[in-house]
Amino acid sequence: MPRIAIASLKPGMVVASDVVTEQGRVILQRGKKVESFHLQLLKGLCIEAVEIEAPSGDSDREEQAAAYARDFFAFVNPDSQVMIELFRFATGLVGARLAEGWIPPSLSERRAQNVEQLEDVFPVEFADPARIVAHETELTSFPDIYFKLKEEAESPKASVRTLTDLVSRDMGLTAKLLKLANSPLYGLPESVESIERAIAIIGIQELSTLALGITAINYFHGIPPELVDMRRFWRHSISTGLIAKIIANAIGEMKNERFFIAGLLHDCGRLILFKKLPYASTEALLYARENFVPIVEAERTVFEFTHTDLSTELLANWQFPKHIAELINFHHNPQDGPDPRLNAVVHVADIMANAVDIAADGMYVLPPFDEAAWNALGLPPSAVGRVMTAFETEVMETMRAFV
Ligand SMILES: [Fe+2]
Ligand SMILES: [Fe+2]
Repeated sequence: MPRIAIASLKPGMVVASDVVTEQGRVILQRGKKVESFHLQLLKGLCIEAVEIEAPSGDSDREEQAAAYARDFFAFVNPDSQVMIELFRFATGLVGARLAEGWIPPSLSERRAQNVEQLEDVFPVEFADPARIVAHETELTSFPDIYFKLKEEAESPKASVRTLTDLVSRDMGLTAKLLKLANSPLYGLPESVESIERAIAIIGIQELSTLALGITAINYFHGIPPELVDMRRFWRHSISTGLIAKIIANAIGEMKNERFFIAGLLHDCGRLILFKKLPYASTEALLYARENFVPIVEAERTVFEFTHTDLSTELLANWQFPKHIAELINFHHNPQDGPDPRLNAVVHVADIMANAVDIAADGMYVLPPFDEAAWNALGLPPSAVGRVMTAFETEVMETMRAFV
């Protein structure tokens, strides 16, 4: 039976098991139809998710959803308890979309369109991460504010006045920071209307890290729209950032913006690939789709390096704070990172964020999942459901701050 978050529950759905409060009171009996007043009631009682019946006569649909999800999970260990939990969640998402009339894309529809005119900056056989980044950074430099923010983010003596002055010079940055401060990411009871107030609540170090991350994001523009739907790309990035923050909280790394920012920027290497080698990137995407392999594996085949090799080069060139860069650079191989437990946070968040999008584009195969990374987090497999439910309630609002 699909288990869905209260935010996604709709009147008319039928609950598949008794919905019970923490005190054991039955709110909705198994088999009952959900009415609109139930939604408020369940929210008020802080019940996060319920099991629902698949719509009647839809066992075919359930089977179709599972078959679709199986392709997506082709590259992971099917015996992993964590993956079984995630598979269940993803199948529920696909089932819900199918019930809405969604038609999964066929292979030919998943092909990138109109890419013939895309031209790579140099032939792929001469491309390596150092060369690509050198070309990129020769052409486009960071704005001054980046380096000043970096100084603030890294200084133990950062001052509220300097940070406020800096941020206030950039209206776009100010607006984004305020939207973020007012999003469910922080769950603040009152609205935050000024940067000073945001600093007071979020903390000076944390706010400068956020500001730095957002400034870095602004750097990525001019990506060929035929190649990648940027809205979708950022949705994946934001989802990864949010899930990383939720997992970081769950393992006791509270108030730590570096996980959110690392999640936001974790695939920045892919953006540089799109910019510098758009045609070869299309080949890698197609290779991934047609052979049902994760993109990171397809990159290794087409380029002989991956987007994390590129981010390593790029972030070093930008002198991006090392403790965030390391979370980004090891998101596909957390065990090789300097702190496998912290590196596992962004690794797991990326996998979960990909699973969330299964029925949004359904184009890719989940990247390889490192079971040892999950174990390093010290969370039980049942935490998957809790993390996903917490995420579902936060994502839309936070998306609005960015897109
Ligand atoms: Fe990645
Ligand atoms: Fe990713």
